[in-house]
Amino acid sequence: MRTQVGIIGGGPSGLLLSQLLHLRGIETVLLEKHSRDYVLGRIRAGVLEHGFAELMREAQVAERMEREGQVHEGFFIAHDGVRDRVDLHALTGGKSVIVYGQTELTRDLYEARDRLGGRVIHNAEDVTPHDIATQRPYLTYRLGRQAARIDCDFVVGCDGFHGVSRQSIPPEHLQVFERTYPFGWLGVLSRTPPVSPELIYATHERGFALCSLRSSTLSRYYIQVPLSDTVEAWSDEEFFQELRCRLPEDVARAMIIGPSIEKSIAPLRSFVAEPMSFGRLFLAGDAAHIVPPTGARGLNTAASDIYYLYHALLDHYLNGDDRGLEGYSQRALARVWKGQRFSWWMTMLLHRFPDNTPYEQRLQRTELAYLLSSQQALASLAENYVGLPFA
Ligand code: FAD
Ligand code: DHB
Repeated sequence: MRTQVGIIGGGPSGLLLSQLLHLRGIETVLLEKHSRDYVLGRIRAGVLEHGFAELMREAQVAERMEREGQVHEGFFIAHDGVRDRVDLHALTGGKSVIVYGQTELTRDLYEARDRLGGRVIHNAEDVTPHDIATQRPYLTYRLGRQAARIDCDFVVGCDGFHGVSRQSIPPEHLQVFERTYPFGWLGVLSRTPPVSPELIYATHERGFALCSLRSSTLSRYYIQVPLSDTVEAWSDEEFFQELRCRLPEDVARAMIIGPSIEKSIAPLRSFVAEPMSFGRLFLAGDAAHIVPPTGARGLNTAASDIYYLYHALLDHYLNGDDRGLEGYSQRALARVWKGQRFSWWMTMLLHRFPDNTPYEQRLQRTELAYLLSSQQALASLAENYVGLPFA
């Protein structure tokens, strides 16, 4: 088989890129390791910034997001038994975010690929990029016992943190920056009305907690847990008891609880691989970088990669101009690092670090007190949370 752009990974990054390119007449084949049901069973991001929504519109997949997604003009920071509202709208001159689940937007993208007859191959095993340093790269994979090959002009690695793309770059050409945190987030999805119409990020001496939502009938809650904890060790009752403990009393009292319909633990990690390209292989999204989820940047940073790569590929195919592809890594990384900084900062601000000295604990409290007392500091938080411009 031959195509113009071979894409590895059928998460939001890969699907969005293939949809955008298809609409401009550029052929893609997308190889996904898992079944569609498996991909759609993962509960992840919930908060989309304006730039992501714009890309969904350009990809002609925004209809349901516009209808069912909720525009949020603020969120709360809970601490010391009280809640302070961060007025995103006022602090950014009218900007907001959209609460719409990653599961839903991935479903919308799959349906759009189906409608256009996009080539998406599921259950592709042993996907391997070859000859990426040459002008004629190709991909091999297996479907059951059948081996197959796709020749292409470019390979795009959208296969997440554990994918094969980044690993196919010779290690001497890759520099890795990493930070791990001594905890994870235990998340629960439950078919109950959310406790608050706007998100609550809570900091407490027992650890961080987050009250989020997917709709008026679907709640998404998280608590910080030690890395050694397992999902099995937490019953629903224990989860909600711990969550309530970390929230102001009025919030805890108002919370309606119900059985979990999904429960999982995500370890927190900051990670960047540089550069984001090698020869004719380009990395995008979680394949190249990971943030701790605290600032809701992961998917949104993937979107800016896709934006730069999409325009660079358009310039190559439509104008014969390769400057975008040559500058892709540098351009994408400039924004990636701003997302890293913000996610790291928000994680440090709101979590309980077991090894912090009393001095560091005082500094953390002072950082929060300063933030909540300064319009300038709040404006900086809001500017980053709604998403820095792509340009
Ligand atoms: P992925 O979604 O990881 O997709 C990669 C795809 O590649 C997968 O489908 C995988 O099966 C496939 N794949 C892997 N290896 C191979 C292979 N060898 N061959 C073929 N296919 C392969 N971000 C936000 O912006 N806002 C939020 O509110 C937010 N909340 C989050 C909450 C949690 C609990 C977590 C865990 C993450 C959150 N994120 C959030 C981050 C966000 O989910 C990710 O950044 C996003 O999924 C990245 O998309 P992606 O397409 O780059 O990678
Ligand atoms: C959600 C996840 C986040 O990381 C975040 O900062 C806000 C919301 C969520 O899953 O709803």
